[in-house]
Amino acid sequence: MASASNADLLELAVHIAQEAGALARARREAGVQVAASKSSAEDIVTHADRETEALIRSMISDARPSDGFSGEESGADAGSSGLTWVVDPIDGTVNYLYGIAEYAVSIAVVEGEPAPLQWTALAGVVFSPVADELFTATLGGGARLGSSSIQVNRGVTLDKALVGTGFSYSSESRARQGAVVAGLISQVRDIRRRGSAALDLCGVASGRLDAYYERGLQPWDHAAGALIAREAGASVTGLNGSRPTAEFTLAAEPALAVKLEQTLGELGV
Ligand code: IPD
Repeated sequence: MASASNADLLELAVHIAQEAGALARARREAGVQVAASKSSAEDIVTHADRETEALIRSMISDARPSDGFSGEESGADAGSSGLTWVVDPIDGTVNYLYGIAEYAVSIAVVEGEPAPLQWTALAGVVFSPVADELFTATLGGGARLGSSSIQVNRGVTLDKALVGTGFSYSSESRARQGAVVAGLISQVRDIRRRGSAALDLCGVASGRLDAYYERGLQPWDHAAGALIAREAGASVTGLNGSRPTAEFTLAAEPALAVKLEQTLGELGV
């Protein structure tokens, strides 16, 4: 079973993401309630996040019982196949709570230790149920939006770049992030805070953003989106060219990524 091709893994991930997206959308239309807060009062989980993750988890375990699982809402289970499914059932939970369309189901299948510094992402899907947009990639197989191949914007200088970012749920970190944004905004075309890291990374992949950076992402926020952005031609890195981690994630066409990282360094990111 562990010998499934990356295309097989992607096909299953797409099927699960679409079922999960339909559930999340139906629950949103019926009305959403906060179930609990997590790391801070701003970091919330809805009943729909939990229900959607439970659906994803059971579909994976029915189809691939030997694979591991790591999800935002229900924790991790080691498998025996060497593959792990890294899942954010609703990335953009605050948008979801407020009825803003920018939320997505994010599912990646990774090989190796299920930690961003060690894993290799094999397949990834980010599904936006309201827009009915499906971003996908397999390792070495390119990135797609629906059936169309997608590519990052090339040749964009920093002063012409539309840059996405996000903010932590910790008010102390947000104050520092706000100061960095205040220094950056006069050096770029403009800044967007869309509220879903997975969609931000797919935004870079599809040319809707020129670059994206954020401190404090969790593995499930970037696992699928980073593969999609990379397969679309982006450099997706952490600090000093390392892999993206909770510390820092930056995605852009490689020359712009170098310039943006340098500028963010000067601003004390
Ligand atoms: C959040 C979103 C947001 C980003 C936060 C993430 P969640 O994920 O991706 O855009 O700024 O860092 O935690 O909580 O909605 O799954």
